[in-house]
Amino acid sequence: MPHRILIVDDERALREELAEFFHDQNLHCAIAGDAEQALKLVREQDFDIVLTDIRMPGIDGIEFVWQLRDLAPETLVLMMTAHPSVDSAVSALRLGVIDYVIKPLVLQDLLHKVQHLIEFREQQRELHWYRQQAQAHYDLSNIVGHSKAMQEVFSVVEKVAQNSSPVLITGESGTGKELVARAIHYNGGRKEERFVVVNCSAIPAALIEAELFGYVKGAFTGAEHDRKGLFAVASGGTLFLDELGELPLEQQPKLLRATENQEILPVGANEAVSVDTRIVASTNKDLRQEVKEGRFREDLYYRLSVVTIHMPPLRDRREDIPRLVDRFVGQFNGELRRQIRGLSNEALRRLLSYEWKGNVRELRNVIERAVMFTEGDLITPDVLPTHLMEATHPAETTGTLRDAVQKFESEYIDAILRATDGDKARAAELLGVSLSSLYRRLQRFDGQTAATAEGDPPS
Ligand SMILES: Nc1ncnc2c1ncn2[C@@H]1O[C@H](COP(=O)(O)OP(=O)(O)OP(=O)(O)O)[C@@H](O)[C@H]1O
Ligand SMILES: [Mg+2]
Repeated sequence: MPHRILIVDDERALREELAEFFHDQNLHCAIAGDAEQALKLVREQDFDIVLTDIRMPGIDGIEFVWQLRDLAPETLVLMMTAHPSVDSAVSALRLGVIDYVIKPLVLQDLLHKVQHLIEFREQQRELHWYRQQAQAHYDLSNIVGHSKAMQEVFSVVEKVAQNSSPVLITGESGTGKELVARAIHYNGGRKEERFVVVNCSAIPAALIEAELFGYVKGAFTGAEHDRKGLFAVASGGTLFLDELGELPLEQQPKLLRATENQEILPVGANEAVSVDTRIVASTNKDLRQEVKEGRFREDLYYRLSVVTIHMPPLRDRREDIPRLVDRFVGQFNGELRRQIRGLSNEALRRLLSYEWKGNVRELRNVIERAVMFTEGDLITPDVLPTHLMEATHPAETTGTLRDAVQKFESEYIDAILRATDGDKARAAELLGVSLSSLYRRLQRFDGQTAATAEGDPPS
């Protein structure tokens, strides 16, 4: 699509000459003899660039640009003037006018500037596109979670995204903590600013302070100039402190001060710097326990856990497995150019009964491998990793064998029913039993729960 330029000048011969010139350069041109006519055109069409004179009868160039800002804030403005004066230059620049050309015009110079603006415009578009992509990617609807536990997570995310209080996300490895941290950022008012990740376990202890808070020139050998820390880089946006539980004790008071006062002291500096940084932290440790054992400061824990989101392990929300599988199969079909429809019943059964110690990440990896190795259009158990085929859902090691078998059976049927959204016919099919047999078993479990409930003395 050719770029569109609007030329505004009260001198007819000039605007026509320019239109012809740009037309020859493959640009789409429109012309206007005064600002009013130009504003009318801008209301009707989109322009990439407006090239306007400053001195015009009626509304002058400066006033025109004022009005243009409201109508088409993305349009880039280039001004032409025969009388460059400091005053008009300053007011024009304040209005966001990008550049000037001086009359009489040198067409090649003008073209050069216009080309420059077009490039700039392209970059703007690209950036906008990437931002949108990033946002779409972290849109809540992209986080799979049909289970009650995940629905609760979503409702908290929606609420906290709207403010700036610290959030602590806990949960086992691979449960989606970082995904949720990004969702908080990209669903709130800070989404246009940066989301900066710092992995507390990956930075050597000696460098953490400088990394987080920056330093001034000469603070230590090798500090040849001032350097911003990640707190300042993320100012306006969000700083994600991944694996917070690994932050060395001696750094914790500084982090507390920074979060409480929104002020940081770069290494070697005398004066604190204000920041506006939202903190989202994550950990797979039990921080309360760490506090008890003296490895984590209590005050920092309370400061950062104002809102805590716990990501449930996948084995406690097996009903999310089928949808996650669909999502990942779709994703890897795209990436690996395959057309796999889904899983065989036996393969799905395997996934539903596995332990998933590595949670969603492990499931994702299993599906990636399966999509890669599947020859037909259905994933079958033979492309699942061996350990997954061998492992079974562990029963607790108490009670008789009969108790254990029954417990397993009831839990398993329950999980399959949740996975099929209560569709008993589909569940029976997955379980490999008849529908009537499934009903019998369910009745038996119901009877048992009722019996235990009645029989158990209140404790
Ligand atoms: N509910 C979900 N829906 C879709 N994809 C998910 C979901 N949860 C996790 N994932 C995917 O699983 C992978 C692991 O997620 P993430 O990195 O957020 O986990 P984590 O809890 O931060 O893990 P770790 O503690 O190991 O850093 C990522 O590829 C992520 O996109
Ligand atoms: Mg993570």
